[in-house]
Amino acid sequence: MNASEYILGKIKAVPDVAIILGSGLSRLAGEIDNPLRIPYKEIPGFLSSTAPGHVGELIYGSIGDKKALLMNGRFHTYEGYSPADVAFPIKVMKQIGINKLIVTNAAGGIKTSYNPGDLVFIKDIINFSFRNPLRGPNDESEGPRFPDMSQAFSKEWMEKANEVIKDNFGAPLEVGTYISVLGPSYETPAEIKMFRKLGADMIGMSTVHEVIVANHIGIEVLGISCITNMAAGVLDQTLTAEEVIEAGRRVSERFVSLVKLIVERTC
Ligand code: HPA
Repeated sequence: MNASEYILGKIKAVPDVAIILGSGLSRLAGEIDNPLRIPYKEIPGFLSSTAPGHVGELIYGSIGDKKALLMNGRFHTYEGYSPADVAFPIKVMKQIGINKLIVTNAAGGIKTSYNPGDLVFIKDIINFSFRNPLRGPNDESEGPRFPDMSQAFSKEWMEKANEVIKDNFGAPLEVGTYISVLGPSYETPAEIKMFRKLGADMIGMSTVHEVIVANHIGIEVLGISCITNMAAGVLDQTLTAEEVIEAGRRVSERFVSLVKLIVERTC
């Protein structure tokens, strides 16, 4: 039995959306109705997540009248996984029949007008990992050899979500460009200065490989970054992983209501 057969055997219906929860953003996992938990270690072929703040389980349940499959914990290349390993769950989602994916992450703010606690839609991405999960032979039945990345994040979905957010919370979210690095060391102030010149608004160590595979196989993507800290050198202070996870927790109530609203109204 493969991973998608195992998961479908448990959940018995195709979810309306999959959601990857970033560092410190796992509160949503505790707030969906009728949750069914599937630890990664039970799933054939699945890896285990080792990063702090990443639990390592799928959670299937309801958000309003929608069905969602949550990844509570993701895989990163800094853990030693290959880009293809990191993106493997996205292929499993497609095999299950999922066509919509919300990716979330914790990110450092490069744009100086951002503040820790801000939630920002990801409009575009810079792959500064210089690695690609599609390297190697291509399976044409999955997607093209050279997939388009000019709309890596769905503009239509983002605009629709932002309208709903504006109606319910009074103001839309900011929209920014995420630069993805390998980590695990945080950046130097000089690197952050360079990334700002390159057009990046926020930075993190995840997301890009998942988004490339989602585009390859035809899954629509919406991205949300939680600005957990200002990137290195923006403020005169050092960075710690604890601060990143703690900031994620502080914003989690707003994050949960926002993601629930997006799922209920746009999925
Ligand atoms: N840099 C890289 N990754 C991150 C950061 C950061 O400042 N904050 C959260 N993830």
